[in-house]
Amino acid sequence: MAVTEMPAKPVGTARQGLGQTSRRDAWWVAPGVQATVFTICATYLFVSGILWTPIFGTAYEVDGYLSPLFSPLITPDWLPSWISPGLLILWIPLGFRATCYYYRKAYYRFYFADPPGCAVGEPKVHRWYRMETALPFILQNVHRYFLYLAFIPLFFLWVDAAIGLRDHEGHLRFGLGGALLFVNAALLTGYSLSCHSLRHLLGGRLDCFSCTARARARHTAWRAATWFNVKHMEWAWASLISVTATDLYIRLLALGVIGDPAIRL
Ligand code: FES
Repeated sequence: MAVTEMPAKPVGTARQGLGQTSRRDAWWVAPGVQATVFTICATYLFVSGILWTPIFGTAYEVDGYLSPLFSPLITPDWLPSWISPGLLILWIPLGFRATCYYYRKAYYRFYFADPPGCAVGEPKVHRWYRMETALPFILQNVHRYFLYLAFIPLFFLWVDAAIGLRDHEGHLRFGLGGALLFVNAALLTGYSLSCHSLRHLLGGRLDCFSCTARARARHTAWRAATWFNVKHMEWAWASLISVTATDLYIRLLALGVIGDPAIRL
């Protein structure tokens, strides 16, 4: 296809020009709040996962609790101390979230004003934007493959939560840290199971849901995925906040800033 024939973004019906709109409601509140929460969490997770330990030597595991940013923990002998072990695993959840259909909608709005909201005008420069049919945004289509990979760290998050039920002396412990690890694993499981790609994988490209036993089984799985999927946005935000809070809790515990209220048996 010649370059001139590449699909270009349709003009749409919103007024032209950044922020131009006939809307009278406070349409900017939602993207404003989302941008603030997302930027705070993403910045914190980047600093904690990549920089905190190499620069300040702060531990990412303490008394049987492992930060979710480092799970599964991979620390090969050849890894220099100035490189965070988080780097070896974080690219999977990072790629999964960055290419998520929901987050794409959200950050296209609040970072790129593309558009800033429904029926709100965007910068005129966007008329040259080729959407996700050209580099770099065509790479968003790898989302399905990140979905497959995301189940690997997810499995280990449940394992780590179970390991966290014992302290370093081997005593059974029901602590706030353990509760956070379980809640975080549950929210990330909900986020993964609510993925649009997973739903399509389970129930897409079928003309008949009842014609064969296999199709009926897929229909059952698709309905389950749909139950999760209708709240995908909520799973996305809750799990982002939980992973941030869980890592922060374990870091503060490791620094001795807070204690871990727990029942020990
Ligand atoms: Fe959001 Fe797949 S669409 S995780």
